Amino acid sequence: DDLAQLPFLTMCIKESLRLHPPVTIISRCCTRDVELPDGRVIPKGNICSISIFGIHHNPSVWPDPEVYDPFRFDPENMKGRSPLAFIPFSVGP
Ligand code: HEM
Repeated sequence: DDLAQLPFLTMCIKESLRLHPPVTIISRCCTRDVELPDGRVIPKGNICSISIFGIHHNPSVWPDPEVYDPFRFDPENMKGRSPLAFIPFSVGP
């Protein structure tokens, strides 16, 4: 109950998990062909490595990605950002 009353602490924890994700990489096996935005296709059966660290430091999503700034997680600043831009616990299958 107390944690729910501490939104700034939550923002700080999230920003710490963004900057220093404890799990830096995960992998997935494609169960079907996956078409990328540029038209290339990852064939079914391929195993893909997904860099959580890289996603969390993508400068087109996170300006000045090396800077610790909890206000990135202020609800106002999260509008329009993909939920997939921050995945310290992965996102399931
Ligand atoms: C800051 C803390 C933690 C982070 C960032 C974290 C992150 C992750 C990530 C990224 C995965 C990989 C999931 C995937 O491949 O989709 C994972 C798997 C897992 N984590 Fe954690 N974890 C944390 C704490 C914990 C704790 C405290 C436990 C247990 C007490 C735990 C238990 C597990 C288990 C059992 C899996 C394997 C799930 C599976 O293979 O389906 N994790 N975790």
